[in-house]
Amino acid sequence: MSVPRSANLLLAGATGLVGGLALAALLAADRRRHWQIYAPTRRALSLTHPRLHPIEIDPGTPTGQAQIERVLVAQGVRLDCFVCAIGSTLKAAGSQAAFAAIDRDLVLALAGIARRHGARQAIVVSSVGAAPSSASFYLRVKGEMEAGVEKLGFERVDFLQPGLLLGERAGVSRPGERIAQVLNPLLNPFLLGSLRRYRAIPAEKVAAALVALAGRKGSGVTRLTNAAIEDCAR
Ligand SMILES: NC(=O)c1ccc[n+]([C@@H]2O[C@H](COP(=O)([O-])OP(=O)(O)OC[C@H]3O[C@@H](n4cnc5c(N)ncnc54)[C@H](OP(=O)(O)O)[C@@H]3O)[C@@H](O)[C@H]2O)c1
Repeated sequence: MSVPRSANLLLAGATGLVGGLALAALLAADRRRHWQIYAPTRRALSLTHPRLHPIEIDPGTPTGQAQIERVLVAQGVRLDCFVCAIGSTLKAAGSQAAFAAIDRDLVLALAGIARRHGARQAIVVSSVGAAPSSASFYLRVKGEMEAGVEKLGFERVDFLQPGLLLGERAGVSRPGERIAQVLNPLLNPFLLGSLRRYRAIPAEKVAAALVALAGRKGSGVTRLTNAAIEDCAR
């Protein structure tokens, strides 16, 4: 897979913690590649840039998804890469069904759009422990999402499987997560060897890995846990 120096990328989740950091890094002037970024969001982005093409719709609805396709067609965009940092929590979604509709079905719908519009690479933030057979509902949904993305026919797929994300979420209060963000790093020194994957990790590193992987050559499906994410982010 080779990607031109100026290439098109669909970024899902640009208003989120990881997605927002990835967006800023993708737009940085000194990147090796000048990505044109198409970002479907239901909230307005606080950023403007000549290479940023916001698509303000609700990507979670069929109408919103049809609108994304219309914009790509109208602007004659052939995508190279799909980057996804969309996700919710069981609490925020309100039910298991609503959570699965976002973390699995919405991700798959957007990945499908990216694939239909030419993307040959997908880079998707998942979670450590994601597996379709997991006893945890959250991890099972993430695993089912990964299995679905694999079936879409991308030439290269990278799943990032971080541990707990560390970072400030603008305008969103998640008290449970705040407590975990304080306590989990204290455990990090004890999580050694294969347990390192369960360490908390700064969202900046996950975003930097997303950006480093975008446009990377090669094919096949790769899963990156903390150590590999940190290597990529360097
Ligand atoms: N938090 C953790 O500790 C952790 C650990 C491992 C993996 N992860 C995974 O890492 C990824 C990124 O996490 P994050 O903390 O950066 O996420 P985040 O800050 O909560 O952002 C999530 C993004 O998804 C979008 N989104 C959520 N529900 C949506 C819906 N119904 N329709 C359209 N867009 C929707 C949000 O849009 P709005 O801004 O419009 O809400 C936002 O852009 C997620 O997949 C998450 O599951 C998180």
